[in-house]
Amino acid sequence: MQTVLITGGAGFIGQNLVHAWRAARPEDRLVVVDALTYAANLRSLEPLIAEGTITFVDGDIRNMTLLQRLFDEHRFLRVVHLAAESHVDRSIDDPGVFLQTNVLGTFTLLKTALDAWRAASLLDRARLLHVSTDEVYGSLDATDRAFSERSPYRPNSPYAASKAASDHIVRAYVMTYGLPALITNCSNNYGPFQHPEKLIPLMIIHALEGKALPIYGDGSNVRDWLHVSDHCAALMKVIDGGRTGETYNIGGDSERSNLEVVNLICEIIDCAFAADSTLGSRFPSCPAATGRSCRSLVSFVEDRPGHDHRYAVDISKLTVALGHTTTTPFEDGLTQTVHWYLQQENWWRDVTSGAYRAWIDRNYRRRGKVGESQPVAEKVD
Ligand code: NAD
Ligand code: DAU
Repeated sequence: MQTVLITGGAGFIGQNLVHAWRAARPEDRLVVVDALTYAANLRSLEPLIAEGTITFVDGDIRNMTLLQRLFDEHRFLRVVHLAAESHVDRSIDDPGVFLQTNVLGTFTLLKTALDAWRAASLLDRARLLHVSTDEVYGSLDATDRAFSERSPYRPNSPYAASKAASDHIVRAYVMTYGLPALITNCSNNYGPFQHPEKLIPLMIIHALEGKALPIYGDGSNVRDWLHVSDHCAALMKVIDGGRTGETYNIGGDSERSNLEVVNLICEIIDCAFAADSTLGSRFPSCPAATGRSCRSLVSFVEDRPGHDHRYAVDISKLTVALGHTTTTPFEDGLTQTVHWYLQQENWWRDVTSGAYRAWIDRNYRRRGKVGESQPVAEKVD
């Protein structure tokens, strides 16, 4: 049994990791700290919080006093650091908060962990995994070799630059102070609970609502897609078996252009409507409700500034060192994901309508400070 801190555990990957960790290691105690930004969603964690299976703390990783108290109370032996601002388009519109959370927040966490583990003589037993992105390596041309752990850092967006800075700070803490930390750099995730601002959920929801499918530029940009369950499995392998001070790339070996991804989503939705007549009455604005293809909604729009052309990730180090294999083929994972959004209509409607924010305020913030492990969790600014 060990106590694990998951920062950003109410985000997309965080929620999936909490559930994966619970399933694989039910004896561990999980503490989630999350600032509940627009990107967070607690609905899937709510039953675990209510029954006291996990401890949820509504707090900001930039708050050193809070982090110190959590490290003192819980004596974490494992930290998985996911908390971040994660959306490239938002980083272009408002880079400041990305530097605040991704750079200063990461620094605050590292300093707190180092001080706490030194004081408790835990440096030889504890581990911190910093979850980062392949975007730190910049952009590839069509024939370039995939990013390896030795690829130079060339971040192009404020988001990527903030994550690159955080990776460098982690490395400095390892080299200078002996912090037992590891870094993973992962490609594009998809799957349940992803916020509707990201490509795949956005396209699914727009298609169901009969809205335009906005493809940046000509749709030829390529991403390497990884089902979030495979990412979570890799994270657990790395934090257990990886060597501290090392970096591991994680990817899905599934390069697809954005246009290919959107066309496939359209095809999956078209087939689902053809197979299930109730979908037409649930989503009457979807072209598939009247026998037309969702592809009719494709719309090419102005490109993202500094848009990286291609990401591809060489995962041979992870495979050889830790025996990791990716289990979800992209087409299967995408079909499951489309069906998840079809089944979880209430979930995404609450997010897109703003009703979910009201729910958070009602259930998690209204009553102020209360004890951890309670359905109404602790609020610490
Ligand atoms: P997300 O945006 O869905 O979730 C981020 C979570 O962090 C949210 O719950 C948010 O409330 C929380 N958060 C933000 N600022 C905070 C702060 N100051 N203090 C505490 N909590 C804060 O992101 P995600 O897609 O789940 O990504 C998680 C991590 O994985 C990020 O570090 C991201 O850079 C990295 N990553 C994501 C992907 C991907 O494709 N989604 C790929 C590679 C790496
Ligand atoms: O590579 C890992 C990264 O993947 C993570 O570090 C980021 O947190 C995550 O957001 C993701 O970044 P991207 O910018 O690649 O993801 P996004 O879903 O925003 O966009 C994927 C591609 O789709 C990208 O080429 C831009 C394009 N796109 C996106 C949106 C939202 C569109 O063409 N239209 C859209 O409306």
